[in-house]
Amino acid sequence: MGVNLRGRHFLKLLDFTTEEIEYLLDLSADLKRMKRAGIPHRYLEGKNVAIIFEKTSTRTRCSFEVGAYDLGMGVTYLDPTGSQMGHKESIADTARVLGRMYDGIEYRGFEQEKVEELAHYAGVPVWNGLTNEFHPTQMLADILTFKENFNNDIKGRTLVFMGDSANNVANSLMVVCAKLGVNFVACAPEGYFPADELVATCREIAERNGSTIKLTSDVKEGVTGADCIYTDIWVSMGMPDEFYKERIPLMEPYRVTSEVMAQANPGCIFLHCLPSFHDTNTTKGAEVAEKFGITEMEVTNEVFESPASKVFDEAENRMHTIKAVMYATLK
Ligand code: CP
Ligand code: NVA
Repeated sequence: MGVNLRGRHFLKLLDFTTEEIEYLLDLSADLKRMKRAGIPHRYLEGKNVAIIFEKTSTRTRCSFEVGAYDLGMGVTYLDPTGSQMGHKESIADTARVLGRMYDGIEYRGFEQEKVEELAHYAGVPVWNGLTNEFHPTQMLADILTFKENFNNDIKGRTLVFMGDSANNVANSLMVVCAKLGVNFVACAPEGYFPADELVATCREIAERNGSTIKLTSDVKEGVTGADCIYTDIWVSMGMPDEFYKERIPLMEPYRVTSEVMAQANPGCIFLHCLPSFHDTNTTKGAEVAEKFGITEMEVTNEVFESPASKVFDEAENRMHTIKAVMYATLK
């Protein structure tokens, strides 16, 4: 039987089968080809979506907006202060109101349970645009980019995540790798690995799909054999700035440098969900440079700007993949 995701929520990749994830990736590639060829695909004309952001965003917000416009839909953006949700109205009530007006709802916020609650009450598909625990739409773009660079053949290859491996992006990468038979390595200081329970779940899934999950604090051991090295910021949204003081010395050995890239497989690519602190051209980057004396955090500018870095293809792919999620669940 073919895959049909109509009416489904998109809250975390653990809820999806390998076949369903592959279907979304194929659909993303098709929609990307259409966009590039200038072929209109206003398949969802007449529908409307609400996108709620309790944390800031560039890529995710713009991907939902452009994706929705390309599909012929209307969009309402609600920023952290632009709705009653959480302050004067419960999630359950907000969900039941928006569900009466919109065909789908995107939500970026804090605890995963909030997006799950929204989905429970909305009566229309809800898409997770990032929570503290997971960032599932990001993973589709990451894997599409990985596939594009390896002739669509990533089963049995190795993706290494360097740095804060307990964060939403690392958790989601571990899940998607397990589902797709990609070996996943978390290379991080002790205490910054994904939660034991999630690791155990992913190990079971990975085993069924012929891949492995490895956790290590040894950089050489971690990156040897890598086909993709991935990193993310050391202090995620919603965490206090005080975390920098504690984390910088712990995370510095896990910075992605040219020396780290040189230990990986030939042809290894570099990915980052972005935004990235690879220089001091941001307020935060400059502040950290002044306070802690470092001008690059999770990745050097040299790697970020190198030919191995596919971060802007990856950012573009956010739009094609998010469009695929909306289309598949609303068509
Ligand atoms: N990668 C990502 O989610 O970027 P934004 O925070 O800009 O949406
Ligand atoms: N881990 C980062 C991802 C940003 C896209 C954060 O949550 O801030």
